[in-house]
Amino acid sequence: MKIVVKVGGSAIVQGLDAQRFKDYADVIKQLADEDHTILIVIGGGTPARDYINVSKQLGANNSILDYIGIGVSRLNARLLISALGDIAYPEPPYDYQEAGLAMYSGKVVVMGGVVPGQTTDAVAAILAEYVHADLLIRTTSVDGVFTADPKFDPKATKIDTMSPQELVDMVTKIEMTAGANNIFDPLGAQIVKRSRIPTVVVNGKQPKNLIKAVKGEPIGTIIKG
Ligand code: UTP
Repeated sequence: MKIVVKVGGSAIVQGLDAQRFKDYADVIKQLADEDHTILIVIGGGTPARDYINVSKQLGANNSILDYIGIGVSRLNARLLISALGDIAYPEPPYDYQEAGLAMYSGKVVVMGGVVPGQTTDAVAAILAEYVHADLLIRTTSVDGVFTADPKFDPKATKIDTMSPQELVDMVTKIEMTAGANNIFDPLGAQIVKRSRIPTVVVNGKQPKNLIKAVKGEPIGTIIKG
C-alpha cells in the first residue's frame, strides 16, 4: 500500500524527546519492511508554537509566522530522518513534486510544511492526492474526531466513521491562524473530499496505532464515502 502519514507535532515533538522519534521510526520501519511505500508529513508541535508566539510579539505578520512554522516542521522532519537512518530519503522535500520523485528512490520520504496559509494536514492531503495514496493517516492527540473538543467538553463522543462531506462541514468555520490547533485543516478536508482519499484519524500518542490503521482495524475515526 502507498501510505501518507501526517504525524502531528503533538504526537512526536512534545518535549523534544529522542525516544519519541525512535518509537515512531521503529513503527515506520516495520511498515516499510512489509513493503508499504511510506511518505511522512510532520508538524511543528510546541517548538513551532513557541517560535510563532515570540515572533508575534516581535511584530511578524501572519505569512512570516507561517514560514516560521514551516521552518520548524522541516527541522522536525530532519529529526525523524535521523531516527530512520538509511531507510529515509536524506532531505525533506520542499514541495509535492520533489516528494513524488523522492518516493521513487524506494526510501521513506519525510517532509514538513510547504507554503503559508495552511497546516501540515493540507500538505499531507495534497501529497496523498498527488502520489495516489491508498491511505492517509492523520495522528492527533485524542482518539479520533469528536463531536466537540473532548479536552473541554466531557459530553463529547468519538465519531467512528464519517463522510468527507461531514468532515468538511465540521471544519469549514475554522480560522487559519499560525500555530492554531484544529481537528483537521479545512483545505486538507476539501482535498480529502475531492479525491475521496481513504483517511483515518488516530491517536498519535501510541505510534503502533499506525499499524492498526494500515491493517484496517476499527480504530480512531474512519473518513470515507
Ligand atoms: P502544523 O499546525 O501543521 O503543526 O504546522 P502541528 O504541530 O503538527 O499541528 P497539530 O499537531 O496537527 O495540531 C505548524 C504551523 O506551520 C505553518 C502554520 O502556521 C502552522 O500552524 N504551516 C505549516 C504553514 O504555514 N504551511 C504549511 O504547509 C505547514
